[in-house]
Amino acid sequence: MQETLTALVAKAQTDLAALKSRPEFEAAKARLVGPNGELTALMKQMGSVPKEQRPAMGKLINETKGRLQDLLDAALRAIEAAELQAQLGPAVDPTLPPPDAGPGTYHPLTLVREEMCRILRKVGFTVADGPEVETEYYCFDALNTPADHPARDAQDTFYFPETARFGNVSKKTADEKYLLRTHTSSVQIRTMLKGPPPIRIVSPGRTYRRDTTDATHSANFHQLECLYVDRNVTVRDLKALLDYIFASLLGKETKTRFRPHYFGYTEPSFEVDLSARHLPKVKKEWIEIGGCGMVDPVVFSGVGYDPEVWSGYAFGMGLERLAMLLYGIDDIRYFYQNDVRFLKQFA
Ligand code: DAH
Repeated sequence: MQETLTALVAKAQTDLAALKSRPEFEAAKARLVGPNGELTALMKQMGSVPKEQRPAMGKLINETKGRLQDLLDAALRAIEAAELQAQLGPAVDPTLPPPDAGPGTYHPLTLVREEMCRILRKVGFTVADGPEVETEYYCFDALNTPADHPARDAQDTFYFPETARFGNVSKKTADEKYLLRTHTSSVQIRTMLKGPPPIRIVSPGRTYRRDTTDATHSANFHQLECLYVDRNVTVRDLKALLDYIFASLLGKETKTRFRPHYFGYTEPSFEVDLSARHLPKVKKEWIEIGGCGMVDPVVFSGVGYDPEVWSGYAFGMGLERLAMLLYGIDDIRYFYQNDVRFLKQFA
């Protein structure tokens, strides 16, 4: 009897360790400890054991029962653990770098910016850079925009506290304030102060205004500025250049027109509209795209250029507006949301 019990436990140990599923477990449990199982069968043989051996034998059977129960519990725990593992999948090492997302694509604003710079480089323009943190002098005063002009109001422009210091952004006067540039026109002044004409620059970059965000407004956006200074520059040169760049970017069907306007730094000044009905999603005939004009003599004098000798044109336009036209994008917020489903369409 004792050997049979020991053999039963040994066999149960190997059998239970090999179990893979709950039905297999239930079957094994019934075979071992169920009403028709092997242990029950042995218990039934107690009757034939001599009386004096019965207490020892009963103890042995109880011990065996306990052992078998432990083995069954362990087997069930192993099956449960395997089930959970199957649900969770392979183990993840959170310290590893994420899987390679594959090559990236250019942002649509980068594509338009680079294409505009390429188009302008072909006709002699070079790319100039300027700081996004500006001073009132470069952003307004030197551009003949007086202190009471609405663009200078704290409602419209982000000013820094007077204690702010930016060692790499030069100030013209000690008491002027720093601000986030409201337009790229400040680069005109920084460029002209660096050296004499002729000048032919394009300057794309980020600009900031206190705008409430909606489908067509954003507190930060991008502009592209051009400045050309030489002898005998005329409005006709300006119009010809604008016709050339928009035809190159948007297709030769594109037309431009000027509407008289006022900017402190140009005289005469115009707003530029373009017509590009051939583009998808363009519903209006004329779409405003930027401002331009002939550089005001006051601006030339301010940077030390003789207005009797030098003439020039300047223009500035919104890059978002151009990209929206070119790609048929109807909400400016898409540019800044970093949604890969949007971005990968411009590969
Ligand atoms: N700075 C103007 C704006 O942000 C655009 C502009 C108008 C730029 C006339 C120019 C210009 O260079 O000559 O609305």
